[in-house]
Formats: sequence, C-alpha cells, structure tokens
Amino acid sequence: MPDIMPGMSTFEQLRAGQPLITVGVLSADMMSLAAEIETVRSAGVKLLHFDIMDGCFCPAQTVGPGFVKGVKTDLLKDVHLMISEPIEKLESFVAAGADIITINIESTRHIHRCLQTLAQMENVNDPARGIVRGVVLNPGTPVESVRPLLDDLEMVMLLAVNPGWGGQKFIHATYDKLTRLRDVISEAGRDILIGIDGGINKTNVAEVASAGADVIVTGSAVFDGENPKANAEFMVKALKQ
Ligand code: DX5
Ligand code: ZN
Repeated sequence: MPDIMPGMSTFEQLRAGQPLITVGVLSADMMSLAAEIETVRSAGVKLLHFDIMDGCFCPAQTVGPGFVKGVKTDLLKDVHLMISEPIEKLESFVAAGADIITINIESTRHIHRCLQTLAQMENVNDPARGIVRGVVLNPGTPVESVRPLLDDLEMVMLLAVNPGWGGQKFIHATYDKLTRLRDVISEAGRDILIGIDGGINKTNVAEVASAGADVIVTGSAVFDGENPKANAEFMVKALKQ
C-alpha cells in the first residue's frame, strides 16, 4: 500500500488500512529526525503522531505548529492537542499540514464548537482529502461523554496513560473503556475510528488491535534508541496477524 492513496479521503485511508500504528515523533532522536522518519516509513508506517502539550493542560511542554509544519513528509500527520482552550490554535495546526486533529475533551469548555470549527477547514495537503476530527479521553473520563458528539467527529481516541509523558505503563482498565466505546458507537449507528494512545509496546500491540482499536499510537517502544526499524516492522506485522 502506498503512503497516501489518491482519490481516497483521509478517513477512508484509515478505514482501509486499519489497524494502523501511528508513531510518536517526539520519542525520535531529534538530531536524526529525517532519518528516523524514513526508517519507520520504510518499515510500513503510514502515520506520524505529534503530541502537542502546553504545560498548562498537562504538565509537560512540547512543540507547536512550527514543528509540525517543519516535518516534511508524505506520511499522514496525526496531531494530538493537549493544550488549554485550543479553539484559536486549530487554524495554525491545520495550516501546518495536519491530516488528523484530535483534541482532549477535558481541555476545552467548547469541544463541540472546536469540532464544528474544524469541519469548516480544508486539508492543506489536499483539499479533497479532508481532515479527520477526533476527541481524546483521559483515563478518568467516561466514554459516554462522546455520545453527544458522534455526529461531529470521525475518531475517538482513548488515552491509556495520563497525558504528559511517553514511556508510561498501559492502564489495563482501558480495555473495558474500549468495549464500552464500541457499544456507544454501534448504538449510535455511526462509523467512527477508535484510537488508543499510550503505553503500547511489542507485548501488547496485537492485543490492543484485536480488542478493536483501529489506530494505535506508539512512541517510545518504536524509537527506543536501539532498533526503530525492527521495532516498527514488528508492530506493523503484529497488527496484520
Ligand atoms: C501521552 C501521549 C502519548 C504517549 C505515547 O501524553 O499522548 O502519545 O506519550 O508515548 P508512548 O508510546 O511512549 O507511551
Ligand atoms: Zn498522543
């Protein structure tokens, strides 16, 4: 499968390719970022995950739209916003080339308006492709909170760690939330992608996929400073079994 499939929307590409891994860029060796990205691309990775943190919604600070834009790649850019009241910033991340924008639901009083705002925006990589909009839930946030939003998003992502850092342990209760989320989505009769983010490694990636995740974030387990190519290849293969 080529990196980008012409004529298909971003959503359709994800649906056709699922389950997919999306690799956390911030765990890469920043001194060799281009080579690190090429390494995972050659292993079959289709998506790059950018964790945007402002030191306010969550304790750590990371990067902004300038970094997202500066990463020149044909891979799909999956931007996860963990910033307080992101509505005014959405445009800058779209302009930076985001193909997917997910927003932590707890980070704003106006999640519905954020999703409506994104619906008005075009994907700068290809206006016909569309932007996949999503919400992300912290481990303590019930899945029912997405129910009123299901007509206005294409993806729901569950955090399996508390937002802030890579390399944390997967919270096991996420499996129950995943089951409930599948029920909530199917009761609503909607076709919505499910993502899982945090604590995914070689030992649990296949289990998370078979539990029903379509898009699986993995950062430190791929960019471990040792063998990102073998790690990414292992994960890509594990998903297809
Ligand atoms: C948590 C982030 C995750 C996480 C991924 O704040 O949203 O994307 O850091 O990193 P690993 O795979 O190392 O848990
Ligand atoms: Zn993330």
